[in-house]
Amino acid sequence: MGKARSSEPVTVFPKEARSAFRKAILNWYDRNGRQLPWRVSADPYRIWLSEIMLQQTTVAAVVPYFERFSAECPDVATLAATPLDRVMRLWEGLGYYSRARNLHRAAQAIMTEFGGQIPEDLESLQSLPGIGRYTAGAVASFAFNRPAPIVEANTERLYARLMALPEDVRSTASQKRLWQFAEEIVPSSRAGDFNQALMDIGSQVCTPTTPLCDDCPVRRWCRAASEGT
Ligand code: ADE
Repeated sequence: MGKARSSEPVTVFPKEARSAFRKAILNWYDRNGRQLPWRVSADPYRIWLSEIMLQQTTVAAVVPYFERFSAECPDVATLAATPLDRVMRLWEGLGYYSRARNLHRAAQAIMTEFGGQIPEDLESLQSLPGIGRYTAGAVASFAFNRPAPIVEANTERLYARLMALPEDVRSTASQKRLWQFAEEIVPSSRAGDFNQALMDIGSQVCTPTTPLCDDCPVRRWCRAASEGT
């Protein structure tokens, strides 16, 4: 028996395949990425607002709320200075109202603690009300191109199939592997496009019941597809 080589971490996605995998994802995104109102610019405020609205809510439901909210509160300073009852009115009908209260509190914290600039690093982002690990990764990558991992419902399903994850995705062990997978695949350049592509592939191609494997740019690397599960 050789010595345990604890310095070499076990990878969940083979290193030598990463470059081709990333290229396939980004090529697909250049052709098929969705045009969404919060993707028109890399404005971190619009990206943050959209991500909060998209928690537990569909893109179709969010779009009109996003347009109205961002027209009235176009930046962090305006949101922070808007009375909470007006913010709640703008949110009315979207549900999960603690999101709006946290958004407002976070805007005020950004003004007082971060000089009015949305922070770029995961730790600072996660210190803000309503921003968890996924939302921090989304803002850091979509707005600032930081190579931060993301795991949410759509990407979770895609990664689980790529890895042929044997267990329930909600288990602690599965979550650990899903986050590790996301960390290993995210590229150091175009991280924002890459992560948004993963979300689009997860929601448009790697759908829950009848995935469109023939249209999938990463089928070559999919263990669930090759194992027929
Ligand atoms: N769901 C959550 N975030 C999203 C995004 N940025 N684009 C599309 N769907 C999403």
